[in-house]
Amino acid sequence: MNKFLVIGNPIDHSLSPKLHNYWMEKNNINAIYEKEKLNSNNLQNFILNIKNKNICGANVTVPFKKEVIPYLDKLTPDAEATQSVNTILLDNEDKIIGHNTDIGGFENAIKFTKYDFKKKKVFLLGAGGVVPSIIFALNKMRVSSITLSNRTKKKAEDLQKFSNEKMLKNNKLSEIVVVNWGVIPEFDIVINATSVGLNNNQKLDLDFSNISKNKFFYDVIYNPKETKFLKTGKDLGNQTENGKKMFIYQAAEAFKLWHNIQPEINEEVIELLDQ
Ligand code: ATR
Repeated sequence: MNKFLVIGNPIDHSLSPKLHNYWMEKNNINAIYEKEKLNSNNLQNFILNIKNKNICGANVTVPFKKEVIPYLDKLTPDAEATQSVNTILLDNEDKIIGHNTDIGGFENAIKFTKYDFKKKKVFLLGAGGVVPSIIFALNKMRVSSITLSNRTKKKAEDLQKFSNEKMLKNNKLSEIVVVNWGVIPEFDIVINATSVGLNNNQKLDLDFSNISKNKFFYDVIYNPKETKFLKTGKDLGNQTENGKKMFIYQAAEAFKLWHNIQPEINEEVIELLDQ
């Protein structure tokens, strides 16, 4: 049977199999989608399995989105710019192609909220695997500025340098600034792209109590549905949105690439991920 996989480490939490298997069944595609925990030293062998057609395609999650790149034959321009791959497929010429559907996932999720990001000031927390894709998308949305903050400041500074000099280069539309962890700059939109909140008891050690209302709090995390970060935003009178739609839209884009079918996104799909 045709097999698709999501690879990462850890991988237990991944809901990708649930979503892809649901869509495959709905579309009468005779294949299976599984998850596999890998170590860095298995990556090359894993890619060989795609080349040899033992595996039809794969999603890649933390911490391999960048690490997988040397083993691929070609990257799409977005994957190349962000140096981040979350979807892999074999093309008609048997070349292994790395795509980035996180960018489109984030863009579509934001479109769905109907909140206009243009000319807004964004405060972005974290510097991990998904952050280059978010910066890339925010720049496309023409936000006025992106203030980056990460517990380990050096990583935010490296990302700022990478964004300015490589990722956005001549297409740079938004200013990128770095502040120390703990500093709350003026912002319209705050995005949590750290892993804090995945565990229900965790709370970011940031104090938002002095901000005014009518801001937008976005969390990349979707499980739990409402992190402490989103609850704080809501309690202070702000609009909030979790990462569920980003997750669904990145998966839909991958599904389209593999099966050439646009899967339906409806209430049933949205609810599927709550179970
Ligand atoms: P990776 O860094 O391997 O890509 P990730 O889950 O995408 O993994 O990123 C984790 C992010 O959450 C990082 O930005 C991390 O900050 P550090 O770079 O300082 O490690 C952030 N993070 C994790 N635990 C945190 C905490 N307790 N407080 C603040 N930030 C935290």
